[in-house]
Amino acid sequence: MHLSLSTAILLLATAGANAFLDGAQRDPTPRSWDEAYHMAHDLVNQMSLEQKINITTGAGWEKTLCLGNTGATTNPDFPSLCLQDSPLGVRWADNVTAGVAGITAASSFDKKLIRERGIYMGKEFRGKGIHMQLGPSVDIMRSPYSGRLWEGAGEDPYLSAVYGVETVLGIQSQNVVATAKHYIGNNQELNRNTESSNIGDRALHEIWTWPYARMVDAGVGAVMCGYNVVNGSHDCENDYILNTVLKGEMGFRGLVMSDWGATHSTVESANGGLDMTMPGDVVMGEGGSYFGKNLTDAVHNGKVTEERVTDMAVRIVASYYKLGQEKGFPKTTVNSFHRDRAPYVNVQGHHARIVREIGAASIVLLRNENKSLPLSTHDHKKIAVIGSDAGPVPGGINSCQDRACHNGTIAIGWGSGTVDFPYLITPKDGIERRVNGAAKVVHTYNDWDTDAAAKMARDADVALVFAGSNSGEEYIIVDGNNDRKNLTLWHNGDNLIKAVADANQNTIVVIHSVGPVLMPWIDHPNIKAVVWAGLPGQESGRSLADVLFGDVNPSGRLPYTIARNKEDYNIKLDPSEDIDYNEKLLVGYKWFDQQNIEPLFEFGYGLSYTKFNYSKVKLQTNGKDSDVILKAKVSVMNTGDVDGAEIVQAYISFPDSAGEPPKLLRGFEKLKLKKGASDDVFFDFDKVDLSIWDDESHQWTVPSGKYTIHVGASSRDIRASASFTL
Ligand code: BGC
Repeated sequence: MHLSLSTAILLLATAGANAFLDGAQRDPTPRSWDEAYHMAHDLVNQMSLEQKINITTGAGWEKTLCLGNTGATTNPDFPSLCLQDSPLGVRWADNVTAGVAGITAASSFDKKLIRERGIYMGKEFRGKGIHMQLGPSVDIMRSPYSGRLWEGAGEDPYLSAVYGVETVLGIQSQNVVATAKHYIGNNQELNRNTESSNIGDRALHEIWTWPYARMVDAGVGAVMCGYNVVNGSHDCENDYILNTVLKGEMGFRGLVMSDWGATHSTVESANGGLDMTMPGDVVMGEGGSYFGKNLTDAVHNGKVTEERVTDMAVRIVASYYKLGQEKGFPKTTVNSFHRDRAPYVNVQGHHARIVREIGAASIVLLRNENKSLPLSTHDHKKIAVIGSDAGPVPGGINSCQDRACHNGTIAIGWGSGTVDFPYLITPKDGIERRVNGAAKVVHTYNDWDTDAAAKMARDADVALVFAGSNSGEEYIIVDGNNDRKNLTLWHNGDNLIKAVADANQNTIVVIHSVGPVLMPWIDHPNIKAVVWAGLPGQESGRSLADVLFGDVNPSGRLPYTIARNKEDYNIKLDPSEDIDYNEKLLVGYKWFDQQNIEPLFEFGYGLSYTKFNYSKVKLQTNGKDSDVILKAKVSVMNTGDVDGAEIVQAYISFPDSAGEPPKLLRGFEKLKLKKGASDDVFFDFDKVDLSIWDDESHQWTVPSGKYTIHVGASSRDIRASASFTL
């Protein structure tokens, strides 16, 4: 078989089981858990009960330098650990990088770039002396209305797992503990502190906890339990999800910390599996603690064993040693609550380059009629840029609390999952810089004066019209949204797009959105291209211009389904206190597939400026008991006239008797191909990929019967299938 050098290297790097390498190979941290536990026991054995409890108890909201700090001990000495948001960079700090959101990184379907993003974030956290990054978030998008869906990686557990694993490996390679969150069932902002997400055991294993199991295998140091209740018991005192599933079945050896204010008890939490309470106080900012003295009392009166407290302390100290933080870890220099007092520490390095690259690699080209894109300054002498989503944030990029602005280009959502922008290249600036005087760029940011927009569009060689939709975390409401009120474009977007399209036969729509939007204008004949630009962070305009002008050939894919009608989605926000996950396994595209609902743009979809042909799939089955149960090979050829990259996706259909949705994503690879070139892609499937959770025997099993593997360019653009029997 022919192998290019790059493919051979890729194969070596991913040999074993597609995204998930086995424990020994994949752990980039300085120490194994065994060694870290050994060291932790040595230290914790010298501690008094009070000292052990001190390191499990946050020092209190607004009392310390970081969003969360643990108590320190002397004799033996253990430092106060600094915990800081967010999943996309260092929150509440200056001279940091504001990169792409999780959902946007995921839409690159590019493992290498997701890893690089993790690495640079790890460098920035370490550079500021932060021991634990409060990310990645892998809350799976149960509903397109969920306010924080953009912090995670979309609607599929496999994609979320790859995103989570690569991010954890990147962060932890820099000696910083990654925190996977929010475990589990934290899928809407509405009633997030009180609602019970009632999840059946099979879906709990196959969907909701699946990415965590993969991150545990990858050595993640911390897990954050969520605000909500699961099956009647608060996340942070839920014996089943914490002790049985996470620490038992998955074998998680790191620490469980509470979300901020998500601890509700002393005894139940300690016995239920919580190891650290954050930020420490009973009610944030009001002092007291469920741990601290209350936990000491609980041990004295026999409600919690000292052994359990030792385990809590050991888990915390072990993650510190596992990441090698005892040697030369920088002094903490963030000052979250007095930012003017933070010393100048610039950790940005050359990270903007990675942000720009992953921003461009994440852009999903949804439509491109008559090769309208890429643009060229030769053919397009006058370019109209229309819509407030192409322009600056009035009042300044950081003028709104935790980025909760509702004007200007959308490059990030809002809430705790954000950072301050060091700068923000707007789409209009990016385009202007790219054309560099070789074409005229005219613009209007007025979304409401559709007549003026139409006039400007009529007069241009190409009209780029921008619109977006935003959302964020519960504690800030913007125009009625934290969760999304609806899936409609903000700021008169639909009317603006229609007015521009009516006026210019060469209209290109660019969307910046947290998640799916409705597109009532999609069949307008003058809309020649639709560009899905996600939440690109500080390099927004440059990443976009890279793709618009063909410097980068788009290869991003949708990490969720864009439906034709809002009614097509099965999950809306649920106002009840008991949210039954009746959809079971039918989350995202699995619902659309099972119900035969034609989406507007399906999961995994995205176009390129070139074309790819697929060969037939070749299979080799090794039997259920082998490490690699199935090997698949497909050849892909770039048959178009430019170089490009294809995201080759592998979906598995299980035997009918298994009761699985029609198909599940179980592998993908990004293949870069010069025009005319072809190469092979290999997929290995192991027990993890081919198992279902058997409710009766309470274990993972590989069902017997006929399977089919589908390889293609999206969840519905299947180019080759082959069956095998196990
Ligand atoms: C969020 C967490 C965050 C924490 C600390 C909470 O409101 O849910 O994701 O890490 O605050 O800011």
